[in-house]
Amino acid sequence: MSELLRIENLSAGYGEAVVLHDISFSLGEGQTLALLGRNGTGKTTLINTLAGATRQHAGTITLGGNALHKLPSHQRAAVGIGWVPQERNIFKSLTVHENLTAVERPGRWNAQRVYEMFPRLAERKSNLGTQLSGGEQQMLAVGRALVVNPTLLLLDEPLEGLAPIIVEELLRAIRRITRDEGLAAIVVEQHPQAILAISDEAVVLDHGTVVHADHAATLRTQPEVLDRLLGVSR
Ligand SMILES: Nc1ncnc2c1ncn2[C@@H]1O[C@H](COP(=O)(O)OP(=O)(O)O)[C@@H](O)[C@H]1O
Ligand SMILES: [Mg+2]
Repeated sequence: MSELLRIENLSAGYGEAVVLHDISFSLGEGQTLALLGRNGTGKTTLINTLAGATRQHAGTITLGGNALHKLPSHQRAAVGIGWVPQERNIFKSLTVHENLTAVERPGRWNAQRVYEMFPRLAERKSNLGTQLSGGEQQMLAVGRALVVNPTLLLLDEPLEGLAPIIVEELLRAIRRITRDEGLAAIVVEQHPQAILAISDEAVVLDHGTVVHADHAATLRTQPEVLDRLLGVSR
């Protein structure tokens, strides 16, 4: 398996504040990585740094041979980043369909395939972003990242605050995108078991540094490690 992403000695934050310290790890093509850690440990800052939305102080990020850290945020989609931010920033004044077509780039994912995966969105094609439930907004946010046809999908707490039935639907979709379609992804979650079950690798952050990295399958069978690092075992 060849390497897709390599992060080396990365430090980043906001303004003068350094949140991430000396982060290094890599991810193979088509692999899924669970990014775990308690609240405030830097998970969103790391995702946002990959998307180019923080201030990077040191280190390098390489994606498919491109020096990602040298590119401004708006050029990162063109080299393969698909970003679903924690705050799901869909265009609220556009319809579902316009949200998708506004960012579509050529490739295997298009609006039609997003509708096949999320039939709810197909039904709401002409609705404005403001008229969607939280779950539908999240589905649209995932759809928007997919139609960019990325090589690496970044999902920041995609299940947060959603009703259990929607969580199931999104998990199925994420499993399909990462497992069946083989798209590489980094998925942030505070509740690790469901995500570890569909991930290949796992990285745990604490105070902005990597405190644990292992195969997801191994970490999944170590409740005492999960409990120590995350304060949860399930
Ligand atoms: N926009 C910001 N400006 C300054 N500090 C921030 C900002 N966003 C987050 N932080 C700080 O960065 C740290 C990590 O936050 P974050 O990456 O959101 O953690 P997580 O996603 O793991 O909950 C926290 O101490 C938080 O207060
Ligand atoms: Mg966060």
